[in-house]
This record gives sequence, C-alpha cells and structure tokens, in this order.
Amino acid sequence: MKTDLISAQDPAALEAAVACISRGEIVALPTETVYGLAGDALNPAAVAKIFEAKERPNFDPLIVHVGKERKRWVQRLADPDKHTTTLVEQLLRRFWPGPLSILLRKRALVPDIVTAGLPQVALRMPANHLFQTILERCNRPLAAPSANRFGKISPTTAGHVLEELKGRIPLIIDAGPTTIGVESTIIRVHLDYIEVLRPGGVTHEELGEIAPVIDSPRTAIVEAPGQTLSHYAPATPLYFIGREETIPQADRSGLICWGPVRTGQPFALARSLSEVFDLREAAARLFCTLREMDKAGVDRIYVEPLPEEGLGRAIMNRLRRAASLDE
Ligand code: TXA
Ligand code: MG
Repeated sequence: MKTDLISAQDPAALEAAVACISRGEIVALPTETVYGLAGDALNPAAVAKIFEAKERPNFDPLIVHVGKERKRWVQRLADPDKHTTTLVEQLLRRFWPGPLSILLRKRALVPDIVTAGLPQVALRMPANHLFQTILERCNRPLAAPSANRFGKISPTTAGHVLEELKGRIPLIIDAGPTTIGVESTIIRVHLDYIEVLRPGGVTHEELGEIAPVIDSPRTAIVEAPGQTLSHYAPATPLYFIGREETIPQADRSGLICWGPVRTGQPFALARSLSEVFDLREAAARLFCTLREMDKAGVDRIYVEPLPEEGLGRAIMNRLRRAASLDE
C-alpha cells in the first residue's frame, strides 16, 4: 500500500482525511498528545484495520475520540452511572478538550471490537483543531490508538509514524511535533474519588482539584491489557542512573539527563530532556529522545530519574515500562 504524507497546512489534507475515514479507511492524525491512527469507531471493519496495521492484539481496547458536542456524544456512546454523573460532568467540563480519557459504561452502539469486549469504553475529546474539524465533518466518533506498532514508542512526529507504519496505512497528516508529547491520562470515576489507570497529560495535581485521586492498583491495570509493563519500549535496554553515578563503558552508552547535560564521562550520545528542569519540555522531548537513542545504535540507555510530580509522573511511568523489558 502506498502511504501518502500530507501537510496539515495543505487545504487538501482535511478532504483527504475525511474521504479516507468515510470509506472505512484509517488515517494517522496529530493530536495534542501523540499521533493517533484513526478510523470510524462505529464501523467494526475500519476498527479491525487499526488492529491489523499496528499488529495489536485484539484484547487491547481503543480510545474513542469525540467532537465538540460533548453531551450528545457521551450520551450516545455511554450510559454513565447516575451516582457519578456529577463528578464526570465536572471533569469533562474542566479537562475537555484535552489529554483526559475517561472510562464509562458503553452502550450497544459501540462495537465490541473497540473495547475488546470490556463493558466500559474510554472516551476523549482531543484538543487539536484539525482532528476536531475532521470529527465534525465525519460526524462520527473516531477510534484512535497511538500510531505506532504494538509495544513500541508512541509517535510525536509524522516522521515517526512513517517509520512505524509506512506501507500499512494510506495516509498520514503532518502537523509537526505534538505539543504535550505523552499520551492522555486514563481515569475511572468512582463515587467520591478518581482512579488513574495511566498517568498522562492531565496531572494528578490537576485532577486532585476536582476530587481525591488514587493510582490504580496493579490488578486494575491487568484489566486494561494494554497497560502491560513492557509497553512504550525502545529497542535498546534502558537503566536508571543517579546523577553522581559513573557508568562502565560509557563510550558505548547513551545518556538522558534531567537538567544540564553532565560532562566528565565520554558517552556515545548525551541528551537532556530539559536543561532547565521543565517537566513540560521533558514530556514533549521524551519519545523523540528515546527514538534518537535507538537510532544511534548505543548498547544501553541510561536515564536520570525525574521528580514524580506533575507531568513527571507520566514520564517516569513510561520510562519504567521501557526499563522493565530488560529486567
Ligand atoms: O493520548 C492518547 O491517549 C493517544 C491519542 C492518539 O489519543 N491514544 C493512545 O491510545 O494512547 P493507545 O491505544 O495507544 O493507549 C490507550 C490505552 C491502552 O493501553 C488501552 O488498553 C487502554 O487505553 N484502554 C482503552 N480503552 C479501554 C477500556 N475500554 N478499558 C480499559 N482500558 C482501555
Ligand atoms: Mg499506545
């Protein structure tokens, strides 16, 4: 299959994406978090193409993206528990459009293939203008996982998508690097607290302004099969390293710093997620830095831990998953 790459600036981009989706094809689109591989969520055959292109096991459910008419879409797709509707409504008003995916009991309209047979569907309203326009034009919800092969690092540029899915999908819309850089936060809402299944672009601190927040226990993570530990993995083994620690064979290793790039040891490649300890900048650079390390062909990647606050939680979550592969 030939894969077209069209700039989001090109007036043809919108039409091409809408035409693709309307005929049951799939398209890689930018969101504010990472690039997604989008298809009509109400068309099981289109959704099946997403699984196929990603080589994603069919037990791993997809997030459904909805357009601006929040209430209409939530009502059509989900049947929220009446005990939690007030809290859900507060969260959606505050964080949509944005990097928050919320699990709600699904209605029959949502095909089982989308939720992998699970009773809940993850809904999110992305904060990307083009994506929003496409949602409006198609007048359909769009299922969209990150546009990478299963188990690999999420793409934050159209170039990353091309590396992952060239020849497997008909179209990629290029809108430059994504702004947030880590995926959405996935939550489940309870009577009086919020359970976080995947930390992401909306922080615990922000959610905590609405209701108490707990991290999902591991059992709940197993319930969402895509949350397996070996996710978000670069090909190269990854280890954490203290700022003062020295490394054997630094000359064959890559180093990812938190703060100024340290000197003293001759690393093959050294990068900083943020020279000025800015967690937003670090999130935006995380996945492309991991890809750069993979491409450089280093034997090992060493990473300095980041503080587990704000976006640091999502970043450390992804890094731990990357590190676990080699344990
Ligand atoms: O920022 C994001 O969330 C991006 C952009 C494209 O929107 N999407 C994304 O999708 O990261 P994906 O498929 O790569 O990760 C979604 C995770 C998966 O691990 C999946 O297991 C979980 O969400 N998930 C989706 N639907 C679920 C459901 N109904 N129940 C439990 N977990 C679910
Ligand atoms: Mg993914």
